[in-house]
Amino acid sequence: MDVLSEANRRRTFAIISHPDAGKTTLTEKFLLYGGALVGAGSVKARDGRRAAASDWMELEQKRGISITSTALQFPYRGCAVNLLDTPGHRDFSEDTYRVLAACDAAVMVLDSAKGIEPQTLKLFEVCRERRLPLLTFFNKWDRPGRDTLELLDEVEKLLGLPAVPVTWPVGFAGDFRGVIDRRDGSYTRYTRVARGSQVAPEELIDPERAASEEGLAWETAQDELELLSEVGADLDPKAFLANESTPTFFGSALTNFGVGKLLDAVIELVPPPEARLDVDGQRRPLDAGFSGFVFKVQANMDPSHRDRIAFIRVCSGRFERGMIVTHGRTGKPFNTKYAATLFGQERETVEEAYPGDVVGLVNATDVRVGDSLFDPTDAPVTFPPIPSFAPEFFMAARVRDTGRFKQFRRGIAQLDEEGVVQVLRDPEFGDQAPVLAAVGRLQFEVATYRLENEFGAPTELSPTNYKVARRTDEASEPALRRMRGVTVLRRADGSRLALFESPYWLERVESENPELTLDRLVAEGMAG
Ligand code: G4P
Repeated sequence: MDVLSEANRRRTFAIISHPDAGKTTLTEKFLLYGGALVGAGSVKARDGRRAAASDWMELEQKRGISITSTALQFPYRGCAVNLLDTPGHRDFSEDTYRVLAACDAAVMVLDSAKGIEPQTLKLFEVCRERRLPLLTFFNKWDRPGRDTLELLDEVEKLLGLPAVPVTWPVGFAGDFRGVIDRRDGSYTRYTRVARGSQVAPEELIDPERAASEEGLAWETAQDELELLSEVGADLDPKAFLANESTPTFFGSALTNFGVGKLLDAVIELVPPPEARLDVDGQRRPLDAGFSGFVFKVQANMDPSHRDRIAFIRVCSGRFERGMIVTHGRTGKPFNTKYAATLFGQERETVEEAYPGDVVGLVNATDVRVGDSLFDPTDAPVTFPPIPSFAPEFFMAARVRDTGRFKQFRRGIAQLDEEGVVQVLRDPEFGDQAPVLAAVGRLQFEVATYRLENEFGAPTELSPTNYKVARRTDEASEPALRRMRGVTVLRRADGSRLALFESPYWLERVESENPELTLDRLVAEGMAG
């Protein structure tokens, strides 16, 4: 099979949203439209609890949420669509960010009654840093919401990104009938089916009939469309690829209205994988030997196996299960006999994969987030590291039973390597009282759960006073350490983080001591 034509068929993206905007529902509907689900309802259980699709850990089941990210692949219109699931709960974690490093685009789902919400904004910023092309879906148009033009305006104002409507709703939010495709003026009218369990029946209706049957809703839509053409809001694929405008769609994931149009746009607009830049800024040709990088490591997905899966995004070449690849960081050979794709709890052996695909390597003991793997018969390659993100929560960790200190120490080192939490140490205290740092509180829950259940080291976490971190250096450390309300801790790689008790305090220290190194962390190493 030709690697280039296979790569060209791939569309690899993630859905980003604030919790409850409809990411899970939309994921399920994409699978329904892709023929990967017979009837909707299996990604998310009816009673509001997440069903089996990504409940890997007992903890997830207990909380009824999905912590781990799934990579789903399904065929659609001749393409192989890779949908990387970002955890969508209130407390998100670094995994959410890392997934975006493995994507070629993202779909931002907004609740039409709410517009841009805080978590959408955070995720959007990561997309912007990576210059990830972004499609926008205004969801829940089937129920009362805000005005179309006002929503477009909000995206433009808050994100600084022009929202360019590709489809336009006929009927206001709550009286949704169908969408007009602005590219050819066609009108698609939908019919509801119970809970959207099947593909929504649709009819292409000519303008005359639409005008007589839809009445005022049609007239309003036409007036709005005229207004849009006057301001020149037309789709420009180049601007989309450069993250300079976002093609926008209206719909309802629940009733399936507009879902097909959005998925079509994923196929038409999301770029196929490109030759990826390595750390030296050279592009690894798509048809070079196999290469990929690890964007996520998940341990203990299956308690009966206690195993560890490294998720790899394939960047070049053809991956074949069983091939021996080189693990870049250690230079050691790595056997890929246990390669899997994951669809919820089901593991399916994967025989081959191409650029854009995600492969899970089971029992990848030494493999860490950011590591590169490649075919030893071709030139070695190292892809840029995946950035660690500015932590916002800091907890002091202490083992409950000092007799278990060894286990505790091993556990936190492991969790740090996997990137479950960031571990910060005071050189004087070392592992006695490390500070665990995270971008979302749920990371702590996962860490303590694993310390206790996997490493046998019940751990107590207590809050610290720190609220914000900056990267600093050896020269600035002594002065910072002398200040009150500041501490300097180290990461395992020796880099130093200065922690401050408040953003206000940080601001003051910065303005009074301009000679100190206090670098922002939000997007360390994000180029690439
Ligand atoms: P999330 O993954 O982004 O957190 O959101 P999720 O899909 O779970 O959706 C959150 C809630 O919004 C769900 O309701 C879901 O049914 C509803 N929803 C999603 N899309 C639409 C839509 O297009 N229209 C309407 N009206 N509702 C939508 P729930 O009450 O939490 O759960 P359920 O009991 O309905 O499943």
